[in-house]
Amino acid sequence: MREKLEQIKKEALDAVKNVSLEAELDALRVKYLGKKGEITAILKQMGSLSAEERPVIGQLANGVRENIEKAISEKVKVIAEKALEARLESEKIDVTIPGTPINVGHKHPMSIVLDEAKDIFVGMGFSIAEGPEVELTKYDFDMMNIPEGHTVREWQDTFYITEDERVHLRCQTSPVQARVMESQKPPIRIISPGRVYRKDEVDATHSPMFHQIEGLVVDKGITMADLKGTLNAFFEKLYGEGTKTRFRPHHFPFTEPSCEVDVQCFMCGGTGCRTCKGEGWIELLGAGMVHPKVLAVCGIDPDVYSGFAFGMGLERLTMLRFGIDDMRLIFENDVRFLNQF
Ligand code: PHE
Repeated sequence: MREKLEQIKKEALDAVKNVSLEAELDALRVKYLGKKGEITAILKQMGSLSAEERPVIGQLANGVRENIEKAISEKVKVIAEKALEARLESEKIDVTIPGTPINVGHKHPMSIVLDEAKDIFVGMGFSIAEGPEVELTKYDFDMMNIPEGHTVREWQDTFYITEDERVHLRCQTSPVQARVMESQKPPIRIISPGRVYRKDEVDATHSPMFHQIEGLVVDKGITMADLKGTLNAFFEKLYGEGTKTRFRPHHFPFTEPSCEVDVQCFMCGGTGCRTCKGEGWIELLGAGMVHPKVLAVCGIDPDVYSGFAFGMGLERLTMLRFGIDDMRLIFENDVRFLNQF
C-alpha cells in the first residue's frame, strides 16, 4: 500500500506538471482526489490493515492527498496567470497606428451658391425672409394677381393639397412678397430663398421640385433703374466683374412692367454654343416693378410707394456658376460629382 501511495503521488504530480488547461486539471482532481478517485480507493482498503499500520498509512495517504492538492492549486494559479498574459497580449492596443479617417462632408454646390448669393444681398442691405412651402392659394395666386382661370392654377400644373384648391405646394417664392408686405411697412428689402414645386417632367433643365430666390424692394421712389443696378451688381459679384446682363420685356401678372433677365453665356462669352443653345445668353430670372394692385392688396399705398421684385432659379444660378450642363446631377447626390466642389 505504501508503494502504491508513493506511485500515485509520483504519477499525479507528474501529470499535474504536464497539463496546461484548466479542464485537464479538473479531470486530474477527479481522478486522484475525487470520491471514486485513487486515494479514496486506498482509504477504502484500510480495513484490511492491522491496527498499528492503519494510522501510519492513513497519515501517509493524507500527506499524499495534501501534496496533490497543493500541486493542483499552484497549477491553477499558473494557468490563470498565463491566460491573463495571453489576454493582455491579444488586447494590446498600438496607439501609434494611424486611426480610421472620418470623412467630413462639405457643402453641396447649390448651398455654396446660395450662401454666396445671401452674402451679396445681405451686403447690399437685404434681410432674409422665409415662407411656407405648403402655401395658401390666397398668397401664391390671389394676392399675386393671378386670377382664377390662369394656367398656373390648373391641376396639371399645381400640386394641390386640398380638393377645394385652397392649399397647394407653392409654385414660386413670390407668395413671400405678399406675406412680407402684409406684415412689414416700407422700406422693405428682402430676399427669400426656398423650394418650389411644379408638375414638370424631369429632364436636363426641369425638375418638379426646384429652388428660387425671391427678391423684393419697396420704398418711395423705387424705379426700374434700381432693379437693373441691383441685379447687375449682384451678377458681377457672383460671376465676376464685367459680367453682362440683358433685360427683355416679358409678362408676369404681379409685376408691371415685367422683364426676364439673361446673363451672357459663361461658355462661349456670347458667340453662341451648345450650353446657351446658340443664343449667347442664359435666362436666369423673372423680374419687374411690383404691380400697383399687388401693393394695394397687401395694404401698401401704390401712390406713395413703388417697388421691384425678382425671382431667380437657384439651380440655373449654380449650373452657370460651375459650368454644370445637366440639372439632374444636382439632385442625384452622386458623391463622385459632389466631391468636385
Ligand atoms: N415668380 C416668377 C416665376 O416663378 C418670377 C418673378 C418673381 C417674376 C418676381 C417677377 C417678379 O417665374
